[in-house]
Amino acid sequence: MTTSHETHTKIISTGMYVPERIMTNFDLEKMVDTSDEWIFERTGIKSRRISSTEGGEFPTDMAQKATWKALESAGLEPNDIDMIIFASVTPDQKLPNSANLLQQKLGITNKCACMDIAVACSGFVYGVNMANSFIKTGMAKKVLVVGSEMLSTEVDWSDRSICILFGDGCGVAIVGEADEGDTSRILSTHLGSDGSGKEFFNQPVGGAIEPITEQHLKDKSHYMRMKGGEMFKVATRTLAENARIVLEKAGKTLDDVDWIVPHQANVRIIETTAKLLGAPMEKVIVNIGDYGNTSAATVPIAFHEAIQDGRIKRGDLVLFDAFGAGLTFGATLLTY
Ligand code: UT7
Repeated sequence: MTTSHETHTKIISTGMYVPERIMTNFDLEKMVDTSDEWIFERTGIKSRRISSTEGGEFPTDMAQKATWKALESAGLEPNDIDMIIFASVTPDQKLPNSANLLQQKLGITNKCACMDIAVACSGFVYGVNMANSFIKTGMAKKVLVVGSEMLSTEVDWSDRSICILFGDGCGVAIVGEADEGDTSRILSTHLGSDGSGKEFFNQPVGGAIEPITEQHLKDKSHYMRMKGGEMFKVATRTLAENARIVLEKAGKTLDDVDWIVPHQANVRIIETTAKLLGAPMEKVIVNIGDYGNTSAATVPIAFHEAIQDGRIKRGDLVLFDAFGAGLTFGATLLTY
């Protein structure tokens, strides 16, 4: 029998789903006073995906499709999953939680623990690190970690300062025990938060304190609000610090890292962080051009795509690095 301190965890498999509808910068030019040139130069984004509101592409629908891929590539059955951590700030509905809805959609009948976490763009990294701890303490063996977002419903499509940035999508990973002798494993984790940054990115209307009224709908004050410049500055500092912490914990240096998979909020944030760390951009997975910022889904989508196209291989040292509204932040260093 393995004792808890001997248990190692690894990412068993991944999956993703993005909505079929593509909204390009040129489409946005017809909606707000902006240009493809401005958006691409300032953010690196060319297009984003937008979920259908007719059904089939709500957050748990996307998660269901992404999870089938992850289960299939791992040769697992739905009931092999014994915990679901669903990271999202755009759940299908308020109650019950999205993890529960997904459990039923996947046909999981083992009554596994299901929870949602609302930590914005750091959600997937939080989920992976929590899964790592739950497995190491013996509470679970195979945890489905989901980052699934439909931010298109929370964006003011008449505000050019914010609507150009976001998109919808989902990425998942199954985290489980690593067999003895398996070199794939999560090496170190870091999570944190700084509530003093709550003014930089928030959505105060629609909660218990200020329920949505007709006036809010009229003046559009129920949508997400962001101080882009403030977020930019704090993001680069935070991402660089996250990376240093997980590397130090694992006794590794940046030279050891094969791939950095950062949260995709702005290509300039990613480039500035790489510069602060002294990392060449060749090591950094960037796909913001195709999807924009999908919040908790950016890291798992970028990770899955880089595995699929052969860039990230088993045995590579990979760094997940994220930050989000809160401010929340976290990183994971793992041998894939
Ligand atoms: O996931 C975590 C949350 N997200 C982030 O962390 C995002 C962090 N912030 C950013 O990515 C950038 O700050 C933005 C992309 C949001 C904004 O870029 P910026 O280079 O900081 O631009 P800015 O806000 O300083 O605006 C520069 C100019 C302004 O015009 P003036 O005042 O110089 O005449 C804006 O009005 O660009 C104007 N502008 C636009 N022009 C065309 C702002 N948005 C647009 C737009 N199209 N969509």
